[in-house]
Amino acid sequence: MTRQFSGAELVVATHNNGKMREFAAMFAEHPCKLYSAADFNLESPEETGTTFIDNALLKARFVAKATGKIALADDSGMCVEALDGAPGVYSADWAEVEGGRDFNRAIKKVHDAMGDHPNKKAKFVSVLALCWPDGHCETAEGFAHGQIVWPPRGSHGHGYDPIFMPDGYHNTYAEMDPTEKNKISHRAASFRQMMEKCFGH
Ligand code: IMP
Repeated sequence: MTRQFSGAELVVATHNNGKMREFAAMFAEHPCKLYSAADFNLESPEETGTTFIDNALLKARFVAKATGKIALADDSGMCVEALDGAPGVYSADWAEVEGGRDFNRAIKKVHDAMGDHPNKKAKFVSVLALCWPDGHCETAEGFAHGQIVWPPRGSHGHGYDPIFMPDGYHNTYAEMDPTEKNKISHRAASFRQMMEKCFGH
């Protein structure tokens, strides 16, 4: 049976301030105190999973065990059909350069790998995992289906946004106003599902 969140505190398994703000907005209506993994001086566990669910569970379990509190983690990425689902769970890794991440490079890598393949279909995936200190976990998954476009378009957003055009739109994620993207994104879908499943919203 699905377990409901009934705590007064929740630790978000991230050190990223941008993500923390998104989670805070998600919980604006929910009366619980939010902490981040950084508040407990926790390191990030290595993301060794081969699926988004594996990685979200691994991060949430790690934080729940270390803090003794209920923990929420997310994992996300872009999957291109013509590349058999790549970059997928390695979406951030494709941008890895010495000293940081370069998404222009990652975007170019997707373009080069696709060549002139006629299938431009792609999807963004977002998985959320909510884990209790006793080991129980619940997950939620959200998708955004669309197409890869070339050349890159738009200056909003982050990551692969300039080459992803969601189905039903003529704009890429990076050409959309962020509030519009946040309503239709893969992350919005997984947030909504998790809120309905475990938070009674
Ligand atoms: P995570 O932080 O391990 O979930 O890594 C997610 C990676 O997937 C990011 O670094 C981006 O490369 C990519 N990604 C996830 N969501 C988005 C999005 O909304 N727009 C663009 N790229 C995204």
